[in-house]
Amino acid sequence: MVTEEIKKQLRAAVGNEYVLDSEIDRFGYSYDSSFVSIADKNQPEVVVRPATTEEVAAVMKIANANGIAVTPRGTSSGRTGGSIPLAGGIALSLTRFDKILELDEKNMMVWAEAGVRTIDLYNHCAAKGLFYPPDPASWKYSTLGGNIAENAGGMRAVKYGVTNNYVMGLEVVLANGDIIHTGGKALKNVTGYNLTQLFVGSEGTLGVVTKVLLRLIPMPKVRNTLQLMFTELNDACDTIHDMLQSGVIPAAAELMDKISFQAVARHRKLDIDPAIAACVVVEIDGPDTAALDEQANKIKEIAGRHAVKEVRIAGSFQESEDIWAIRRGLSSAIGAMAPNRFGEDISVPRDAFPDMIRRIRKISEKYNLTIAVYGHAGDGNLHPSVLCDMANPEHAGKVHHCIAEIFDEALAVGGTLSGEHGIGITKKPYLVKALGEAGVAAHKAIKLSLDPKGILNPGKIWEN
Ligand code: LAC
Ligand code: ZN
Repeated sequence: MVTEEIKKQLRAAVGNEYVLDSEIDRFGYSYDSSFVSIADKNQPEVVVRPATTEEVAAVMKIANANGIAVTPRGTSSGRTGGSIPLAGGIALSLTRFDKILELDEKNMMVWAEAGVRTIDLYNHCAAKGLFYPPDPASWKYSTLGGNIAENAGGMRAVKYGVTNNYVMGLEVVLANGDIIHTGGKALKNVTGYNLTQLFVGSEGTLGVVTKVLLRLIPMPKVRNTLQLMFTELNDACDTIHDMLQSGVIPAAAELMDKISFQAVARHRKLDIDPAIAACVVVEIDGPDTAALDEQANKIKEIAGRHAVKEVRIAGSFQESEDIWAIRRGLSSAIGAMAPNRFGEDISVPRDAFPDMIRRIRKISEKYNLTIAVYGHAGDGNLHPSVLCDMANPEHAGKVHHCIAEIFDEALAVGGTLSGEHGIGITKKPYLVKALGEAGVAAHKAIKLSLDPKGILNPGKIWEN
């Protein structure tokens, strides 16, 4: 329990105005974007907003000495409850860690604090012709620390990979308040365990990331966006599949099914052809316009073989932005369709994604529940969203069986529970199925050695 005496110590560590304990502040730091409605039961006892690594270390020492839970958080755009303070205690906000510290153009790397917004880092580097590719849909408000905690992906993963492919080093405060530095600017580094990658995707359960060193690549000279419309979902899937087989590697290849496309069209007041059953958005990039034309022509030709109804090639930067705004607006548009939405994040081998979509359709029919499917089809990461009304006992009785079956099918085709959102709270019940008892025991052993008192983000990833 966070006593008045402990609050006094926290105030001494970070300053009075950065320790918040009013009802409204505690409520404000009690949820994330997962729609897990447990806010009334899981408010932090106190919110602490340090600005330096030493302050974080001081907070961790106080928490460790008193056995108090600490849940780190950035801007809480997470989808699985990772930053919800399940055990009360301290909500540790990193949003004051908002500085880009060093852009090292010669080594093509950047040091930044954990609370920097993803898009701000992207823009800062882009101004120097350097490219930080990971672009989670939430990049306008997500922070680097959260991206690292969840190993965030995004649209451009097809060609450029996800967050962990760019993390070179970290500054981390451990549960006991020790500060460690992992990795560095040397491209080759086999000095002990790869702790950098251990922290990536660890969902705030092993340490508090305060600073990050990221690798950059040269910004592609030109890029463009294509929007392809189909009257059959299978044709859209086959087009993406054939495109990848043909050697075209798009930067992004996104798919939305009819339910998703109609939802976002309604939301954005777009006039659309009701016969459209699937929309594919592709980003291509390269060294010059000739390279873009070659890729665009090839994609058009492949789509033509699969009865594409309409091909739109963006004629300007603004048109590309408009097409991407449709894609980025999907999640909130779908969320607005029903009182409850369970948005999943399965990831399957990319040649299995057309089969996976057919399996999801069958599950939707079997349970008579609407499932909107969209996602990063180019890399096999799909977001099936089960829409329901939990106040309806019929829905409440079957929705979790429906979700479990989606996970079963994803595992059956060689896939996994999460591609980019993490396990958090929402996928805990399925972890043993995915990793096996021995796999989960290995996780627990690592956790125990770095956080023996179990104070860092308790109650996440696995069931206790
Ligand atoms: C997206 C988020 C939900 O792809 O991952 O829209
Ligand atoms: Zn996504």
